[in-house]
Amino acid sequence: MIVLGIETSCDETAAAVVTDGREIRANVVLSQLDDHTPYGGVVPEIAARAHLEHLDGLVRRAMEEAGVGFGDLDAVAATGGPGLIGGVIVGVMTAKAISAARGLPFVAVNHLEGHALTARLTDDVPFPYLLLLVSGGHCQLLVVEGVGRYRRLGTTIDDAVGEAFDKTAKLLGLGYPGGPLVEKAAGRATDPGRFELPRPMIGRPGCDFSFSGLKTAVRRHVEELPRPLSEADQADLAAAFQRTVAEVMADRCARAIRLFKEAHPGGGALVVAGGVAANKTLRARLSDLAAAEAMPFVAPPLNLCTDNAAMIAWAGLERLRLGETDSLNFAPRPRWPLDPSAAPAIGRKGVGSGVKA
Ligand code: KG4
Ligand code: ZN
Repeated sequence: MIVLGIETSCDETAAAVVTDGREIRANVVLSQLDDHTPYGGVVPEIAARAHLEHLDGLVRRAMEEAGVGFGDLDAVAATGGPGLIGGVIVGVMTAKAISAARGLPFVAVNHLEGHALTARLTDDVPFPYLLLLVSGGHCQLLVVEGVGRYRRLGTTIDDAVGEAFDKTAKLLGLGYPGGPLVEKAAGRATDPGRFELPRPMIGRPGCDFSFSGLKTAVRRHVEELPRPLSEADQADLAAAFQRTVAEVMADRCARAIRLFKEAHPGGGALVVAGGVAANKTLRARLSDLAAAEAMPFVAPPLNLCTDNAAMIAWAGLERLRLGETDSLNFAPRPRWPLDPSAAPAIGRKGVGSGVKA
């Protein structure tokens, strides 16, 4: 089976062609970074217009690279939410048009499910597994029991972790997007132990996260330092922030592992997904934790951690195999939780607001 995937939920316009043999035939991503950088963040209107302008060309390119025509496809899948609604509409309408014109099944994919199932595309990971989903809009621990079957163990009660990286980068004067810049700056630290930051939630029961206190602590340090910050100050603070995040993640994951093992004595892998999973310090820390717990550790390659359409095509394929396709009446969803039965986290403002997924 061959599926075309389309991703337009945030600031990446992407198209990909993937087979049920887990082969990525094409995976093209156009970042709108330059369009949004002057504003220090993603501007929804600009994003939607850029998707509209580029998506057709990207679909054509992906299909050329894959060496397939519309007649070779078994389905077309597009992100149906959560995300910036203007962009999601562009992707969904494009997919529906192809589907209607070619008589192909249409699959509306939850963007988060795309991240969640990537480890099955890259590493053929069997169900169940424990997933740490860390992106610009989400920070969740989930038990993935099957396609469409997610049990949330914890979530953030304030900021998402990618958001915390982005805000920290701003505070340090590093620019946008924050995650990769904080990681780069941390790599230049000459005295990485110089700053101690509070480690929110460590040792607390449950598997929830909190990052707003950490961000405030970074701001306090910045206010006490001569500005503009020297490169050394930026680097040492970035290193402290990154180390603290990795420690908090490891603590929360250790708790989730206990719950996971109780529910699934047969075991399963620890999987990390989402844009923040590109962070090498975090990956190393989680890999150590998994080794100590005798669990396989799976982290997709960097280009499949950040937003892409291969993950959407793959999630579409997984649904197609189960006969789960969508009607052309599907309405794009700004919010779309993976585990609708999970209670909203206390204190989380704008949870699932879909500003970033
Ligand atoms: O999944 P993603 O590409 O987009 C969505 O939010 O859906 O994640 C983007 C987030 C941004 O907040 C970005 O700063 C963060 O992932 N990120 C990183 C790294 N690369 C991207 N955070 C830490 N270290 C990185 N290397
Ligand atoms: Zn994402």
